[in-house]
Amino acid sequence: MPSHSTDQPIPASGRRLCGSRFFIHTFGCQMNKNDSEHMAGLLLGAGAEEVPSAEDSDIILINTCAVRSKSVNKVYSLLGRLKRIKQASQGVQIAVTGCVAQLHRDEIQQRYPYVDLIVGPDNYPALPEMLGKSRLRPQTATAWHSGWQEIRTGYRAKGISGFVTIMEGCNNFCSYCVVPFTRGREKFRPASQILEETQELAAKGYREVQLLGQNVNVYRDPDQGSGFPALLRELGRVRGIAWIRFITSHPRDFSHELARAMKEVPQVCHQLHLPIQAGSDDVLRAMNRGYTRSEYLERIDMLRSLMPDIALSTDIIVGFPGESGQDFEDTLRVLAEVRFANIFSFHYSPRPRTASARTLPDSVPREEKKRRLMLVQSLQKQIQLEMHRALKGRSLEVLCMGPSKKDGSVYTGRNAANQVVNFSAPRDPTGTFVRVEITGYGPYSLKGKLDP
Ligand code: SAH
Ligand code: SF4
Ligand code: F3S
Repeated sequence: MPSHSTDQPIPASGRRLCGSRFFIHTFGCQMNKNDSEHMAGLLLGAGAEEVPSAEDSDIILINTCAVRSKSVNKVYSLLGRLKRIKQASQGVQIAVTGCVAQLHRDEIQQRYPYVDLIVGPDNYPALPEMLGKSRLRPQTATAWHSGWQEIRTGYRAKGISGFVTIMEGCNNFCSYCVVPFTRGREKFRPASQILEETQELAAKGYREVQLLGQNVNVYRDPDQGSGFPALLRELGRVRGIAWIRFITSHPRDFSHELARAMKEVPQVCHQLHLPIQAGSDDVLRAMNRGYTRSEYLERIDMLRSLMPDIALSTDIIVGFPGESGQDFEDTLRVLAEVRFANIFSFHYSPRPRTASARTLPDSVPREEKKRRLMLVQSLQKQIQLEMHRALKGRSLEVLCMGPSKKDGSVYTGRNAANQVVNFSAPRDPTGTFVRVEITGYGPYSLKGKLDP
Protein backbone atom coordinates (compact mmCIF):
# COMPACT_ATOMS: atom_id res chain seq x y z
CA MET A 1 0.00 0.00 0.00
CA PRO A 2 1.35 3.47 -0.79
CA SER A 3 1.93 5.85 2.07
CA HIS A 4 0.38 9.26 1.54
CA SER A 5 2.61 12.17 2.29
CA THR A 6 2.43 15.79 1.26
CA ASP A 7 6.21 16.04 1.55
CA GLN A 8 6.12 15.02 -2.10
CA PRO A 9 4.16 17.08 -4.63
CA ILE A 10 0.72 15.65 -5.26
CA PRO A 11 0.38 14.46 -8.85
CA ALA A 12 -2.47 16.02 -10.83
CA SER A 13 -4.24 12.65 -10.83
CA GLY A 14 -4.08 12.72 -7.01
CA ARG A 15 -6.10 15.92 -6.76
CA ARG A 16 -9.23 14.02 -7.63
CA LEU A 17 -11.42 15.68 -4.98
CA CYS A 18 -10.70 19.30 -5.97
CA GLY A 19 -13.70 21.52 -5.26
CA SER A 20 -15.36 19.00 -2.90
CA ARG A 21 -16.35 20.01 0.63
CA PHE A 22 -16.37 17.34 3.32
CA PHE A 23 -17.72 16.93 6.84
CA ILE A 24 -16.73 14.10 9.19
CA HIS A 25 -18.99 12.84 11.98
CA THR A 26 -17.03 10.65 14.44
CA PHE A 27 -18.41 8.09 16.88
CA GLY A 28 -16.45 5.79 19.21
CA CYS A 29 -13.04 5.58 20.79
CA GLN A 30 -9.83 7.61 20.58
CA MET A 31 -8.60 5.43 17.73
CA ASN A 32 -11.63 6.46 15.68
CA LYS A 33 -11.00 10.13 16.50
CA ASN A 34 -7.41 9.74 15.38
CA ASP A 35 -8.44 7.85 12.21
CA SER A 36 -10.86 10.69 11.40
CA GLU A 37 -8.00 13.18 11.62
CA HIS A 38 -5.93 11.08 9.24
CA MET A 39 -8.86 10.62 6.84
CA ALA A 40 -9.37 14.39 6.87
CA GLY A 41 -5.68 14.66 5.95
CA LEU A 42 -6.17 12.26 3.03
CA LEU A 43 -9.13 14.23 1.69
CA LEU A 44 -7.33 17.57 2.10
CA GLY A 45 -4.38 16.04 0.27
CA ALA A 46 -6.70 15.12 -2.61
CA GLY A 47 -7.79 18.73 -2.91
CA ALA A 48 -11.06 18.72 -0.88
CA GLU A 49 -11.93 21.32 1.74
CA GLU A 50 -13.27 20.64 5.27
CA VAL A 51 -16.49 22.46 6.27
CA PRO A 52 -18.10 22.80 9.71
CA SER A 53 -21.51 21.22 9.01
CA ALA A 54 -23.04 18.34 7.05
CA GLU A 55 -25.48 20.75 5.37
CA ASP A 56 -22.63 22.70 3.74
CA SER A 57 -20.80 19.62 2.49
CA ASP A 58 -20.97 17.37 -0.53
CA ILE A 59 -19.10 14.49 1.13
CA ILE A 60 -20.54 13.36 4.48
CA LEU A 61 -18.25 10.83 6.12
CA ILE A 62 -19.53 8.93 9.15
CA ASN A 63 -16.83 7.14 11.15
CA THR A 64 -18.60 4.55 13.25
CA CYS A 65 -18.33 2.40 16.39
CA ALA A 66 -19.82 -1.08 16.88
CA VAL A 67 -18.75 -1.88 20.43
CA ARG A 68 -22.27 -1.91 21.90
CA SER A 69 -25.66 -2.15 20.19
CA LYS A 70 -26.38 1.42 21.29
CA SER A 71 -23.38 2.69 19.32
CA VAL A 72 -24.66 0.95 16.16
CA ASN A 73 -28.19 2.30 16.66
CA LYS A 74 -26.83 5.85 16.81
CA VAL A 75 -25.22 5.33 13.40
CA TYR A 76 -28.38 3.85 11.89
CA SER A 77 -30.54 6.69 13.14
CA LEU A 78 -28.11 9.25 11.67
CA LEU A 79 -28.14 7.38 8.34
CA GLY A 80 -31.95 7.45 8.45
CA ARG A 81 -31.91 11.24 8.93
CA LEU A 82 -29.45 11.71 6.06
CA LYS A 83 -31.90 10.23 3.55
CA ARG A 84 -33.57 13.64 3.26
CA ILE A 85 -30.29 15.39 2.43
CA LYS A 86 -29.55 12.76 -0.18
CA GLN A 87 -33.04 13.11 -1.73
CA ALA A 88 -32.68 16.88 -1.84
CA SER A 89 -29.32 16.71 -3.58
CA GLN A 90 -28.11 13.67 -5.51
CA GLY A 91 -24.65 15.28 -5.67
CA VAL A 92 -24.05 14.64 -1.97
CA GLN A 93 -21.96 11.54 -1.26
CA ILE A 94 -22.39 9.57 1.96
CA ALA A 95 -19.46 7.46 3.15
CA VAL A 96 -19.60 5.09 6.14
CA THR A 97 -16.23 4.12 7.63
CA GLY A 98 -15.05 2.44 10.84
CA CYS A 99 -16.21 -0.54 12.81
CA VAL A 100 -19.89 -0.63 11.75
CA ALA A 101 -18.79 -0.41 8.10
CA GLN A 102 -16.56 -3.45 8.62
CA LEU A 103 -19.06 -5.51 10.65
CA HIS A 104 -22.39 -4.60 9.05
CA ARG A 105 -21.53 -3.85 5.43
CA ASP A 106 -24.36 -5.92 3.99
CA GLU A 107 -26.96 -4.58 6.38
CA ILE A 108 -25.99 -0.97 5.55
CA GLN A 109 -26.26 -1.73 1.83
CA GLN A 110 -29.72 -3.24 2.30
CA ARG A 111 -31.23 -0.77 4.73
CA TYR A 112 -29.59 2.42 3.42
CA PRO A 113 -29.11 1.88 -0.34
CA TYR A 114 -28.32 5.58 -0.78
CA VAL A 115 -24.97 5.14 1.01
CA ASP A 116 -22.27 5.63 -1.65
CA LEU A 117 -19.23 4.20 0.07
CA ILE A 118 -18.55 1.65 2.85
CA VAL A 119 -14.92 1.42 3.99
CA GLY A 120 -13.56 -0.69 6.87
CA PRO A 121 -10.61 0.42 9.06
CA ASP A 122 -8.06 -1.57 7.06
CA ASN A 123 -8.78 0.29 3.82
CA TYR A 124 -8.48 3.99 4.59
CA PRO A 125 -5.52 4.70 2.28
CA ALA A 126 -7.84 3.97 -0.66
CA LEU A 127 -10.47 6.47 0.50
CA PRO A 128 -9.83 9.41 -1.91
CA GLU A 129 -9.68 7.10 -4.93
CA MET A 130 -12.86 5.31 -3.88
CA LEU A 131 -14.72 8.57 -3.30
CA GLY A 132 -13.88 9.47 -6.88
CA LYS A 133 -15.23 6.14 -8.13
CA SER A 134 -18.34 6.12 -5.94
CA ARG A 135 -19.64 9.18 -7.79
CA LEU A 136 -20.44 6.73 -10.57
CA ARG A 137 -21.65 3.78 -8.51
CA PRO A 138 -21.58 2.62 -4.85
CA GLN A 139 -18.29 1.12 -3.63
CA THR A 140 -17.26 -1.04 -0.68
CA ALA A 141 -13.85 -1.92 0.76
CA THR A 142 -13.77 -4.26 3.75
CA ALA A 143 -10.89 -6.61 2.90
CA TRP A 144 -8.18 -7.34 5.46
CA HIS A 145 -4.49 -6.55 4.96
CA SER A 146 -1.86 -8.53 6.79
CA GLY A 147 0.63 -5.77 7.63
CA TRP A 148 0.63 -2.26 9.03
CA GLN A 149 -0.68 0.41 6.64
CA GLU A 150 0.87 3.79 7.07
CA ILE A 151 -1.26 6.90 6.52
CA ARG A 152 0.73 10.08 6.94
CA THR A 153 -0.50 13.12 5.14
CA GLY A 154 1.35 16.07 6.67
CA TYR A 155 -2.06 17.72 7.20
CA ARG A 156 -2.16 17.59 10.96
CA ALA A 157 -3.87 20.53 12.67
CA LYS A 158 -2.13 22.42 15.46
CA GLY A 159 -2.91 21.12 18.93
CA ILE A 160 -1.75 20.44 22.47
CA SER A 161 -2.40 16.74 23.00
CA GLY A 162 -2.09 14.38 20.03
CA PHE A 163 -2.91 10.73 19.41
CA VAL A 164 -0.31 8.42 17.89
CA THR A 165 -1.45 4.93 16.93
CA ILE A 166 1.21 2.28 17.63
CA MET A 167 -0.75 -0.91 16.94
CA GLU A 168 -4.19 -1.87 15.73
CA GLY A 169 -6.34 -4.95 16.09
CA CYS A 170 -6.59 -7.56 18.78
CA ASN A 171 -5.89 -11.27 19.21
CA ASN A 172 -7.49 -11.62 22.64
CA PHE A 173 -11.07 -12.46 21.77
CA CYS A 174 -12.59 -11.48 25.09
CA SER A 175 -15.86 -13.36 24.79
CA TYR A 176 -18.06 -10.21 24.76
CA CYS A 177 -15.98 -8.07 22.42
CA VAL A 178 -16.54 -7.33 18.75
CA VAL A 179 -13.26 -5.43 18.20
CA PRO A 180 -11.25 -8.42 16.85
CA PHE A 181 -13.94 -8.65 14.12
CA THR A 182 -13.89 -4.94 13.30
CA ARG A 183 -10.19 -4.13 13.57
CA GLY A 184 -8.81 -7.56 12.72
CA ARG A 185 -5.71 -9.17 14.22
CA GLU A 186 -2.81 -7.31 15.85
CA LYS A 187 -0.70 -5.20 13.49
CA PHE A 188 2.27 -3.27 14.81
CA ARG A 189 3.46 0.03 13.41
CA PRO A 190 7.21 0.39 12.82
CA ALA A 191 8.87 2.30 15.70
CA SER A 192 10.60 4.55 13.15
CA GLN A 193 7.19 5.81 11.94
CA ILE A 194 5.92 6.27 15.51
CA LEU A 195 9.01 8.29 16.34
CA GLU A 196 8.67 10.42 13.21
CA GLU A 197 5.01 11.20 13.85
CA THR A 198 5.79 12.10 17.48
CA GLN A 199 8.59 14.41 16.31
CA GLU A 200 6.21 16.03 13.82
CA LEU A 201 3.70 16.67 16.61
CA ALA A 202 6.42 18.15 18.81
CA ALA A 203 7.49 20.44 15.95
CA LYS A 204 3.86 21.62 15.62
CA GLY A 205 3.86 22.60 19.31
CA TYR A 206 2.08 19.57 20.80
CA ARG A 207 3.10 18.97 24.44
CA GLU A 208 1.49 15.57 25.10
CA VAL A 209 1.08 12.36 23.12
CA GLN A 210 -1.33 9.53 23.81
CA LEU A 211 -0.20 6.27 22.28
CA LEU A 212 -3.09 4.21 20.99
CA GLY A 213 -3.74 0.54 20.45
CA GLN A 214 -6.26 -2.10 21.49
CA ASN A 215 -3.53 -3.79 23.55
CA VAL A 216 -0.39 -1.64 23.60
CA ASN A 217 1.46 -3.91 26.05
CA VAL A 218 2.12 -6.55 23.39
CA TYR A 219 3.68 -4.00 20.97
CA ARG A 220 6.71 -5.29 19.02
CA ASP A 221 8.58 -3.20 16.50
CA PRO A 222 8.21 -5.15 13.21
CA ASP A 223 11.69 -3.98 12.13
CA GLN A 224 13.81 -4.35 15.28
CA GLY A 225 11.70 -6.69 17.42
CA SER A 226 11.93 -4.42 20.47
CA GLY A 227 8.92 -4.14 22.80
CA PHE A 228 6.74 -1.48 24.36
CA PRO A 229 9.05 -0.50 27.26
CA ALA A 230 11.82 0.21 24.71
CA LEU A 231 9.41 2.33 22.66
CA LEU A 232 8.55 4.43 25.73
CA ARG A 233 12.25 4.97 26.41
CA GLU A 234 12.81 6.06 22.83
CA LEU A 235 9.83 8.45 22.81
CA GLY A 236 11.07 9.95 26.08
CA ARG A 237 13.92 11.43 24.04
CA VAL A 238 11.65 13.49 21.75
CA ARG A 239 12.25 17.12 22.69
CA GLY A 240 9.13 19.17 23.35
CA ILE A 241 6.88 16.25 24.33
CA ALA A 242 6.54 16.62 28.10
CA TRP A 243 3.82 14.06 28.82
CA ILE A 244 3.31 10.58 27.37
CA ARG A 245 0.26 8.40 28.08
CA PHE A 246 -1.00 5.21 26.50
CA ILE A 247 -4.24 3.24 26.09
CA THR A 248 -5.23 0.46 26.37
CA SER A 249 -3.30 -1.98 28.55
CA HIS A 250 -4.39 -5.55 29.12
CA PRO A 251 -3.84 -6.63 32.75
CA ARG A 252 -2.53 -10.05 31.68
CA ASP A 253 0.21 -8.51 29.55
CA PHE A 254 1.24 -5.74 31.94
CA SER A 255 4.83 -6.60 32.92
CA HIS A 256 7.13 -5.47 35.70
CA GLU A 257 9.50 -4.27 32.98
CA LEU A 258 6.80 -1.95 31.62
CA ALA A 259 6.08 -0.58 35.09
CA ARG A 260 9.81 0.13 35.47
CA ALA A 261 9.88 2.01 32.16
CA MET A 262 6.88 4.07 33.35
CA LYS A 263 8.77 4.94 36.50
CA GLU A 264 12.08 5.66 34.80
CA VAL A 265 11.02 7.67 31.75
CA PRO A 266 10.19 11.07 33.28
CA GLN A 267 7.75 12.01 30.50
CA VAL A 268 5.49 8.99 31.08
CA CYS A 269 2.62 10.12 33.33
CA HIS A 270 2.00 8.08 36.46
CA GLN A 271 -1.44 7.25 35.19
CA LEU A 272 -2.77 3.99 33.82
CA HIS A 273 -6.02 2.73 32.35
CA LEU A 274 -6.20 -0.96 33.23
CA PRO A 275 -9.61 -2.46 32.45
CA ILE A 276 -10.65 -5.11 34.99
CA GLN A 277 -14.21 -5.63 33.58
CA ALA A 278 -15.45 -7.67 36.57
CA GLY A 279 -14.45 -8.62 40.11
CA SER A 280 -15.57 -12.24 40.10
CA ASP A 281 -13.24 -15.01 38.93
CA ASP A 282 -16.14 -16.96 37.43
CA VAL A 283 -17.18 -13.97 35.33
CA LEU A 284 -13.58 -13.17 34.35
CA ARG A 285 -13.16 -16.77 33.17
CA ALA A 286 -16.39 -16.64 31.14
CA MET A 287 -15.17 -13.36 29.64
CA ASN A 288 -11.91 -15.08 28.60
CA ARG A 289 -9.87 -12.31 30.20
CA GLY A 290 -6.88 -14.48 31.14
CA TYR A 291 -6.40 -13.25 34.73
CA THR A 292 -8.04 -13.69 38.12
CA ARG A 293 -9.13 -11.01 40.51
CA SER A 294 -6.10 -11.64 42.72
CA GLU A 295 -3.69 -11.53 39.76
CA TYR A 296 -5.17 -8.16 38.84
CA LEU A 297 -4.77 -6.90 42.39
CA GLU A 298 -1.16 -8.13 42.44
CA ARG A 299 -0.44 -5.97 39.37
CA ILE A 300 -1.96 -2.97 41.16
CA ASP A 301 0.23 -3.64 44.23
CA MET A 302 3.32 -3.90 42.03
CA LEU A 303 2.46 -0.61 40.29
CA ARG A 304 1.73 1.20 43.54
CA SER A 305 4.90 -0.02 45.19
CA LEU A 306 6.95 1.36 42.26
CA MET A 307 4.86 4.55 41.81
CA PRO A 308 2.93 5.41 44.99
CA ASP A 309 1.30 8.40 43.24
CA ILE A 310 -0.04 6.40 40.25
CA ALA A 311 -3.64 7.23 39.23
CA LEU A 312 -5.59 4.22 37.98
CA SER A 313 -8.72 3.99 35.90
CA THR A 314 -10.70 1.02 34.63
CA ASP A 315 -13.62 -0.33 32.59
CA ILE A 316 -16.46 -2.32 34.13
CA ILE A 317 -19.15 -4.42 32.46
CA VAL A 318 -22.21 -5.26 34.58
CA GLY A 319 -24.79 -7.93 33.78
CA PHE A 320 -22.53 -10.30 31.84
CA PRO A 321 -24.40 -13.60 31.17
CA GLY A 322 -24.64 -15.58 34.40
CA GLU A 323 -23.40 -12.73 36.64
CA SER A 324 -25.03 -13.52 40.01
CA GLY A 325 -25.74 -11.04 42.78
CA GLN A 326 -22.65 -12.40 44.53
CA ASP A 327 -20.48 -11.95 41.42
CA PHE A 328 -21.69 -8.38 41.16
CA GLU A 329 -20.85 -7.74 44.81
CA ASP A 330 -17.29 -8.84 43.95
CA THR A 331 -17.11 -6.04 41.37
CA LEU A 332 -18.27 -3.47 43.93
CA ARG A 333 -15.65 -4.80 46.38
CA VAL A 334 -12.85 -4.36 43.83
CA LEU A 335 -13.90 -0.75 43.25
CA ALA A 336 -13.90 -0.06 46.98
CA GLU A 337 -10.56 -1.80 47.41
CA VAL A 338 -8.60 -0.27 44.51
CA ARG A 339 -10.19 3.20 44.60
CA PHE A 340 -9.81 4.10 40.93
CA ALA A 341 -9.47 7.76 39.97
CA ASN A 342 -12.02 7.19 37.20
CA ILE A 343 -14.04 4.37 35.66
CA PHE A 344 -16.02 3.73 32.48
CA SER A 345 -18.94 1.41 33.12
CA PHE A 346 -21.34 -0.29 30.73
CA HIS A 347 -24.11 -2.82 30.82
CA TYR A 348 -23.44 -5.97 28.83
CA SER A 349 -24.55 -5.81 25.21
CA PRO A 350 -24.49 -9.05 23.16
CA ARG A 351 -22.54 -8.47 19.94
CA PRO A 352 -22.68 -10.39 16.66
CA ARG A 353 -20.02 -13.08 16.11
CA THR A 354 -18.74 -12.91 19.70
CA ALA A 355 -18.42 -16.09 21.77
CA SER A 356 -20.63 -14.88 24.61
CA ALA A 357 -23.45 -13.88 22.26
CA ARG A 358 -23.21 -17.21 20.44
CA THR A 359 -23.05 -19.48 23.47
CA LEU A 360 -24.48 -17.73 26.54
CA PRO A 361 -28.03 -16.48 27.02
CA ASP A 362 -28.21 -12.77 27.93
CA SER A 363 -29.58 -13.84 31.32
CA VAL A 364 -29.51 -10.70 33.45
CA PRO A 365 -32.73 -8.72 32.88
CA ARG A 366 -32.43 -5.20 31.54
CA GLU A 367 -33.81 -3.61 34.71
CA GLU A 368 -31.30 -5.52 36.83
CA LYS A 369 -28.43 -4.43 34.56
CA LYS A 370 -29.58 -0.84 34.99
CA ARG A 371 -29.75 -1.25 38.76
CA ARG A 372 -26.24 -2.72 38.91
CA LEU A 373 -24.85 0.01 36.67
CA MET A 374 -26.38 2.63 38.95
CA LEU A 375 -24.86 0.99 42.03
CA VAL A 376 -21.42 0.90 40.37
CA GLN A 377 -21.66 4.51 39.33
CA SER A 378 -22.90 5.82 42.66
CA LEU A 379 -20.17 3.97 44.60
CA GLN A 380 -17.55 5.33 42.21
CA LYS A 381 -18.98 8.85 42.48
CA GLN A 382 -18.55 8.66 46.25
CA ILE A 383 -14.95 7.45 45.89
CA GLN A 384 -14.09 10.23 43.44
CA LEU A 385 -15.62 12.88 45.71
CA GLU A 386 -13.47 11.62 48.58
CA MET A 387 -10.33 11.53 46.43
CA HIS A 388 -11.01 15.03 45.09
CA ARG A 389 -11.71 16.42 48.57
CA ALA A 390 -8.21 15.32 49.64
CA LEU A 391 -6.73 17.50 46.88
CA LYS A 392 -8.31 20.74 48.14
CA GLY A 393 -5.65 23.32 49.00
CA ARG A 394 -2.99 21.46 46.99
CA SER A 395 -1.12 22.99 44.04
CA LEU A 396 -1.15 20.76 40.93
CA GLU A 397 0.70 20.92 37.64
CA VAL A 398 -1.86 21.23 34.82
CA LEU A 399 -1.54 21.22 31.03
CA CYS A 400 -4.05 23.85 29.87
CA MET A 401 -6.15 22.70 26.89
CA GLY A 402 -8.03 26.01 26.36
CA PRO A 403 -11.03 28.04 27.54
CA SER A 404 -13.84 25.96 29.03
CA LYS A 405 -16.83 25.38 26.75
CA LYS A 406 -19.31 26.66 29.31
CA ASP A 407 -17.50 29.79 30.47
CA GLY A 408 -14.85 31.56 28.36
CA SER A 409 -13.19 33.16 31.40
CA VAL A 410 -12.51 29.72 32.88
CA TYR A 411 -9.79 27.47 31.45
CA THR A 412 -9.72 23.71 31.40
CA GLY A 413 -6.84 21.27 31.51
CA ARG A 414 -5.66 17.97 32.90
CA ASN A 415 -3.07 17.05 35.51
CA ALA A 416 -0.64 14.14 35.23
CA ALA A 417 -3.28 11.88 36.81
CA ASN A 418 -5.55 12.80 33.87
CA GLN A 419 -8.07 14.53 36.14
CA VAL A 420 -9.98 17.44 34.60
CA VAL A 421 -9.12 20.77 36.26
CA ASN A 422 -11.18 23.91 35.55
CA PHE A 423 -9.53 27.09 36.76
CA SER A 424 -9.61 30.85 36.59
CA ALA A 425 -6.58 32.70 35.25
CA PRO A 426 -5.81 36.36 34.62
CA ARG A 427 -4.14 35.53 31.27
CA ASP A 428 -4.71 32.80 28.66
CA PRO A 429 -2.41 29.86 29.49
CA THR A 430 -3.60 27.58 26.65
CA GLY A 431 -0.95 25.07 25.62
CA THR A 432 1.29 25.65 28.63
CA PHE A 433 1.97 23.89 31.90
CA VAL A 434 0.74 25.91 34.86
CA ARG A 435 0.34 25.38 38.60
CA VAL A 436 -3.25 25.50 39.82
CA GLU A 437 -4.34 25.76 43.43
CA ILE A 438 -7.33 23.49 44.01
CA THR A 439 -10.17 25.43 45.65
CA GLY A 440 -13.17 23.18 45.00
CA TYR A 441 -14.30 19.94 43.39
CA GLY A 442 -17.17 17.88 42.07
CA PRO A 443 -17.24 14.11 41.44
CA TYR A 444 -15.90 14.40 37.90
CA SER A 445 -13.60 17.44 37.97
CA LEU A 446 -11.52 19.75 40.14
CA LYS A 447 -11.81 23.54 40.39
CA GLY A 448 -9.04 26.00 41.11
CA LYS A 449 -7.21 29.20 40.41
CA LEU A 450 -3.89 29.87 38.74
CA ASP A 451 -1.10 29.90 41.32
CA PRO A 452 0.65 33.25 40.97
N1 SAH B 1 -9.00 -3.14 24.76
C1 SAH B 1 -9.91 -2.28 24.12
C2 SAH B 1 -11.27 -2.18 24.67
C3 SAH B 1 -12.20 -1.61 23.65
S1 SAH B 1 -13.80 -1.62 24.09
C4 SAH B 1 -9.39 -0.96 23.83
O1 SAH B 1 -8.83 -0.74 22.80
O2 SAH B 1 -9.57 -0.01 24.60
C5 SAH B 1 -13.85 -0.54 25.49
C6 SAH B 1 -14.65 -1.11 26.61
O3 SAH B 1 -15.99 -1.35 26.18
C7 SAH B 1 -14.18 -2.46 27.10
O4 SAH B 1 -13.10 -2.36 27.98
C8 SAH B 1 -15.43 -2.99 27.77
O5 SAH B 1 -15.52 -2.54 29.12
C9 SAH B 1 -16.55 -2.35 26.98
N2 SAH B 1 -17.21 -3.35 26.13
C10 SAH B 1 -16.68 -4.02 25.10
N3 SAH B 1 -17.59 -4.88 24.57
C11 SAH B 1 -18.72 -4.73 25.30
C12 SAH B 1 -20.01 -5.33 25.25
N4 SAH B 1 -20.30 -6.29 24.36
N5 SAH B 1 -20.95 -4.92 26.14
C13 SAH B 1 -20.65 -3.95 27.05
N6 SAH B 1 -19.46 -3.36 27.14
C14 SAH B 1 -18.49 -3.73 26.28
FE1 SF4 C 1 -11.84 -6.32 23.01
FE2 SF4 C 1 -10.58 -7.75 24.83
FE3 SF4 C 1 -9.30 -7.02 22.62
FE4 SF4 C 1 -9.91 -5.15 24.41
S1 SF4 C 1 -8.52 -6.90 24.77
S2 SF4 C 1 -10.21 -5.03 22.19
S3 SF4 C 1 -11.84 -5.91 25.25
S4 SF4 C 1 -11.04 -8.43 22.72
FE1 F3S D 1 -15.76 1.27 18.75
FE2 F3S D 1 -14.21 0.25 16.91
FE3 F3S D 1 -13.20 1.82 18.79
S1 F3S D 1 -15.90 -0.78 17.89
S2 F3S D 1 -14.50 1.33 20.54
S3 F3S D 1 -14.64 2.44 17.23
S4 F3S D 1 -12.23 0.02 17.91
